[in-house]
Amino acid sequence: MSSFRQFEEPDHALLYKNYREKPPARLIERIVEFLREKYTGPLKQAVDLGCGSGQCTFLLSKYFETVLGTDISQAQISQALQGTAEEECNNVNFCVSPAETIALEDHSVQLITACVAAHWFDLDKVYEEGRRVLCDGGVMAFLCMDYLIVEIGDDLERNQQFLKIMQDVHKIMDPYFAPPAALAFNKYRDITIPYSDLTREYDYEIGVTTNLSKILGAIKSYSAFQTFCKVKGEDEGKKLMQDIKDRFLKIATIPNDDPDANVLTLKRRYFVVMARV
Ligand SMILES: C[S@@+](CC[C@H](N)C(=O)[O-])C[C@H]1O[C@@H](n2cnc3c(N)ncnc32)[C@H](O)[C@@H]1O
Repeated sequence: MSSFRQFEEPDHALLYKNYREKPPARLIERIVEFLREKYTGPLKQAVDLGCGSGQCTFLLSKYFETVLGTDISQAQISQALQGTAEEECNNVNFCVSPAETIALEDHSVQLITACVAAHWFDLDKVYEEGRRVLCDGGVMAFLCMDYLIVEIGDDLERNQQFLKIMQDVHKIMDPYFAPPAALAFNKYRDITIPYSDLTREYDYEIGVTTNLSKILGAIKSYSAFQTFCKVKGEDEGKKLMQDIKDRFLKIATIPNDDPDANVLTLKRRYFVVMARV
């Protein structure tokens, strides 16, 4: 399998920074617990591959002396570097690098993560590089998320209608995802990290109170939406987003139809596959 190049344009990287939330803190804690089950040494170095604008990287900083976030995209790393000042993390570094090459010493790393990214990599090369840089008992963990869930309070009827909108969005978008995204749609069940104690866990949920503009932004940040616009043209992309917005507004009874009113909940459900060398 070879790696795929996407997410590299500055506008797309900005959509990421603005609309892609961090993964659940509880999941990061669980990954560190998994590492701690068999590794008792100091937590010196973690590496977050395909780090984007640092969504997962910053969450690792409280556990490790140093965290390195790497991404093949210069535009993503530029956004991540800007985030470093906002997050006030002085133990996090970022650099442009393919996931298949990690610029660290042999056996110097305790944890390698990749968040919503592993499906784009040349995994055999990443496993090989992991064996080189991970210390004895070190862990590789690939986390990823399911489709977005939009809700308004516990209004079952309207939540079902939102679900239908999101299912329709995916019916339109899914053909525009590059083939490796199928690994994510199948919750990484086809990814087997060839180390010890292979573990799969599901249903780590995170929800944020948000508004329709941000939900539309999250949909626009899909690589499939970017491809849709390239294939069908920007006008078709705008029309699609307007249709989605109109459908939401019809159901949401947002005050004054204000897409910036924070009355919606955006939920993301994460899963992980992890193993130790
Ligand atoms: C869907 S984004 C995820 C970003 C971030 N980790 C997050 O959780 O939102 C996938 C990221 O993987 C990066 N990527 C894709 N293939 C890569 C590769 N072979 N090596 C390093 N980064 C890669 C992309 O540039 C992009 O930033």
